[in-house]
Amino acid sequence: STGYTTLDPGFVNTASTSSAITYIDGENGILRYRGYPIEQLAGKSTFIEVSYLLIYGELPTATQLESFTDRIRRHTLLHEDLKRFFDGFPRNAHPMPVLSSAVNALSAYYQDSLDPADPEQVELSTIRLLAKLPTIAAYAYKKSVGQPFLYPDNSLNLVENFLRMTFGFPAEPYEIDPEIAKALDMLLILHADHEQNCSTSTVRLVGSSDANLFTSISGGINALWGPLHGGANQAVLEMLDEIKASGSNAGDFVRKVKNKEDGVKLMGFGHRVYRNYDPRAAIVKQTAHTILDKLGGDDELLDIAMALEEAALTDDYFVERKLYPNVDFYTGLIYRAMGFPTRMFTVLFAMGRLPGWIAHWREMHEDPATKIGRPRQIYTGYTERDYKDVTSR
Ligand code: SDX
Repeated sequence: STGYTTLDPGFVNTASTSSAITYIDGENGILRYRGYPIEQLAGKSTFIEVSYLLIYGELPTATQLESFTDRIRRHTLLHEDLKRFFDGFPRNAHPMPVLSSAVNALSAYYQDSLDPADPEQVELSTIRLLAKLPTIAAYAYKKSVGQPFLYPDNSLNLVENFLRMTFGFPAEPYEIDPEIAKALDMLLILHADHEQNCSTSTVRLVGSSDANLFTSISGGINALWGPLHGGANQAVLEMLDEIKASGSNAGDFVRKVKNKEDGVKLMGFGHRVYRNYDPRAAIVKQTAHTILDKLGGDDELLDIAMALEEAALTDDYFVERKLYPNVDFYTGLIYRAMGFPTRMFTVLFAMGRLPGWIAHWREMHEDPATKIGRPRQIYTGYTERDYKDVTSR
């Protein structure tokens, strides 16, 4: 009688598009950036080299890599007026809205690099983002702990500079731990791209209106914050902390999940594409042991995580639904052992995903065939009906 069109419950609306950047085989747990397996890149490359690969499509020669690194190095500073943005945020603000606001504000400060139709401006905004996001991320952290900001030290590489601006103090030299820098570099590689996920699709959709790169990336940061997406790495640690604090155990928690008590999910498990072990999670799990041994992280939380994984991987509820650990399941344990507060975990995800977002935004402008068009819908609302005066409603 209402004229609604009902959708077949099994209908899944999948908008599809093409891209040459990242390949995922969800059934077999395969991930490749521009054809290179993630296992090889994580083991042999660096985050800045993988950023070059994703954005320009090829691994750089030594000369290309040096020039790319040098161009980025020269843009790590923020405009002094932009730094004042941080004064206005409350200290207890989550760093993700701080990050997306400051990134969006780059559109106001760097108006000479906004035109997506001008290759030089696209290149300049690319370099500015790669260089300034770590600085903005570090300042978001410093603001939250009420400590002074450090200017970048361009004698350091991108990751070392970020660690120093995050954990260093003006009053004393900061000792870079090469093992931590290397582990963080590898984690950023693992997060660098993942084809048409929620935040990357957001960057593409915002960019499809010819909005500039800064504002498109800001949209991606907002989408990533969601706990079902990039916010999951924070949610996993909150879940582990809660299990530990409540004194319950992995088996009890898995039972709660299976019974869907209070809608609780096993955070860090499941994936829209992978119906197998997320290859990134396998690599992170190995690193977790090494880093936690070195830094003396909370082994009890690692034990709980491993007990959850073991319980879930042998339980029909998870096996039937092909739910496996995803990239977020173990990363938070490493980030915490490195000294990052839980709220910074998704900021670290955004730092890693930045080159992927940029690569997709550029690909869309270089190859309109990869552009996400305006999504259409199946209308399920009322058929036509006449207006009624308020006295007769
Ligand atoms: C990322 O897309 C990407 O590539 C994302 C990402 C990237 O690199 O960009 O890989 C990063 O976002 C990883 C995902 C991080 N999110 C989480 O870990 C949150 C927990 N995971 C779930 O919310 C869920 O698995 C999703 C959102 C990731 C996927 O959700 P789907 O595809 O809608 O879930 P599904 O269709 O696979 O679910 C089928 C069933 C449902 O139960 P039933 O209706 O059949 O009874 O499995 C259940 C779901 O409720 N389910 C879970 C579960 N995930 C799915 N049950 C308990 N715990 C979970 N984690």
